[in-house]
Amino acid sequence: MAYDHSDKIGNQGDLVKHYALYLCLKKLFEKHPADTPFVYAESHAGRAEYVLPEGGGWKNGIGAFSEFVRTGIAGAASSNLGEFDEIFIGRELKTGMKYLGSTGIAFRLLRGGNSPLRQHGQRFIMKLWEQSLPAVEDLIRYYHPWMPAHASSNPPPIQLVEINHGDGFAGVQNAGKLNFVFIDPPSIDDSGKVFTLIDRLQKDNTPYLCWMPRTPYKGKDSSKSTKFCNRAASNGVVCHGIQWPPTTATCFGCWLAGSQSLDDAIKQACDEIRGLMSWA
Ligand SMILES: C[S@@+](CC[C@H](N)C(=O)[O-])C[C@H]1O[C@@H](n2cnc3c(N)ncnc32)[C@H](O)[C@@H]1O
Repeated sequence: MAYDHSDKIGNQGDLVKHYALYLCLKKLFEKHPADTPFVYAESHAGRAEYVLPEGGGWKNGIGAFSEFVRTGIAGAASSNLGEFDEIFIGRELKTGMKYLGSTGIAFRLLRGGNSPLRQHGQRFIMKLWEQSLPAVEDLIRYYHPWMPAHASSNPPPIQLVEINHGDGFAGVQNAGKLNFVFIDPPSIDDSGKVFTLIDRLQKDNTPYLCWMPRTPYKGKDSSKSTKFCNRAASNGVVCHGIQWPPTTATCFGCWLAGSQSLDDAIKQACDEIRGLMSWA
């Protein structure tokens, strides 16, 4: 059956990846010239927003996160953690409410105006790839006012979202100059393709962040999981690990790999989430 992220939305893995995405973009926006468009790309976009399902892992992920932040654990409310909660969650979460996917998070940050990160109306281009047709349909419904076919062309649109139905590994490699790439494949079996893409981004000096599940074997990293981190290290890729309970048959944590230029943001994301959630 084709992968669908809907039943996993907001789980522990999404919490770490979305918070790291937010810190990486925040760092990149600080240095990006205000008069040039920020070009953002995602190879595995998923949907723009999701409905929180009954019995979903979101209760142990963004649900617990938001509760901890709002009850003031470890002074989180006044920090980046608090800002993330305010921009993307901001209320007690319940089944049936909506939560943004990674493209929705990036879009909200790129549009600006709701945080000190960017001025409202600054220029950007989002280039998104997704292989599942239902997810692409969902992206089109959400972003159609910003898509090239719908946006007014005179004057040229300053905020554009391009949605590509197809393979994001190949798509991103042929996408031209990018200011940031987020790589979020469904399986550790995609590691080979991930490293081919990462090699290209490294050569082009393009900042990137990649999320990968840590798969377990006898309570430790499986050989595929260990290989991912070792290969990252030998290629000059930053790779930070995080673990959360409970270990399931398929996942017990994740790797966040990225460009050297984003090392501090990725490490900070792991440290802050680990501290707030009491994870390892
Ligand atoms: C983990 S989900 C993405 C979640 C999303 N990035 C988020 O955080 O909200 C992975 C997505 O990749 C899509 N996918 C799988 N293989 C792909 C490929 N080669 N190219 C583009 N999309 C792919 C799946 O359909 C799925 O929607």
